[in-house]
Amino acid sequence: MPERIYIFDTTLRDGEQAAGTRLGSAAKLEIATQLTRLGVDVIEAGYPNSSPEDFNAVKLISEKVKGPVICALSRAVAEDIDACAKALEKAERPRIHTGIGVSDIHISGKFQHHRYGITLAEKKQRIIEMAVKAVSRARRYVDDVEFFAEDAARADRNYLCKVLEAVISAGATVVNVPDTTGFSTPDEFGALIWTVRHRVPNIRKATISVHCHNDLGMAVANTLAAVKNGAQQIEGTITGIGERAGNAALEQVVMALRTRKDYFGADCRIKSDEFYRTSRTVAKHLKVLIPSNKPVIGDNAFAHSSGIHVDGFLKQRETYEIMDPANVGFPASRVVLTARTGRHGLRHRLEQLGYNFRPEQVEQIYRRFLSVADKRQEVTDRDLASIVKSYS
Ligand code: KIV
Ligand code: ZN
Repeated sequence: MPERIYIFDTTLRDGEQAAGTRLGSAAKLEIATQLTRLGVDVIEAGYPNSSPEDFNAVKLISEKVKGPVICALSRAVAEDIDACAKALEKAERPRIHTGIGVSDIHISGKFQHHRYGITLAEKKQRIIEMAVKAVSRARRYVDDVEFFAEDAARADRNYLCKVLEAVISAGATVVNVPDTTGFSTPDEFGALIWTVRHRVPNIRKATISVHCHNDLGMAVANTLAAVKNGAQQIEGTITGIGERAGNAALEQVVMALRTRKDYFGADCRIKSDEFYRTSRTVAKHLKVLIPSNKPVIGDNAFAHSSGIHVDGFLKQRETYEIMDPANVGFPASRVVLTARTGRHGLRHRLEQLGYNFRPEQVEQIYRRFLSVADKRQEVTDRDLASIVKSYS
């Protein structure tokens, strides 16, 4: 049996942190409803103490969306945790996601005030106390508490393990090991998860989650390396939208697990044929464009254009497609006619359009087609119709 991986979607929280984007309650509810259709295990609905609108969004989603765990974010401070608990009151399966920075850079940079201690060692001790206090407070409200060890990828390994052991003892059910700044490489991040799995004595009492950012373009690879090394929950966003260069794109991670089940030995409960629709819903509300070459859901993800590819694809789809577009809800594979498409592709499109020409006619049409194609990015069906007019 493949290992079950839990999918934690943070499009509504980290995704919405992308510069220049904003989601109101109604948009968040529509996306959350679609994420439920997609089959995600956890929806991080927002950060209730950040604004009244976000509080209302988490409250609304808690009332209306049933099935997935509904999660809300907080810092390791009482007001945030209390706001999460209030916003999540009506959730069927509430989770509070609380945490604090654990790398030396975060601790010395963000906790400069002497009330956190004078030396770095004192501050680090104080951070553990704050983390434990936050988890204990959250556990008074809900049974499911996730702890994020912010900037874990740049933290001292021994200290990270100590923090995680302490928060699990305090009742954390999930421990999130984030690469907050997208600094890690797949080998390093995989090794980090291996270390957490083998060095935190009580780790079996919690689920290991990972949350990777994409600053160096490695969020998906790092997430997959973590799965290889025992991560049980993966966090990401639809299309990879998120803070700075974004988060791990869930559609890519999930389709990598599915397409390479032989390699990863893991799977999840996502209904992948909802990816296309979900990505368009998210893009519409966040007002972002999906690049055409985006893996899995970009307009060109199943488009073939060059003669060699088109010829192979038309003979047998699998020669140039490793996924079936239907499995990600894509309307269909496409052959895009350009000057590189070749005769086979042209003949195929003519047949699709209902034309039936003799080989010598196709040859003549092909020459006319090339003269048009050399001037255009794509030869459309309307262009073809005018090219073949004199032969019909
Ligand atoms: O990137 C990060 O570390 C986060 C935490 C809040 C989980 O988004
Ligand atoms: Zn993040």
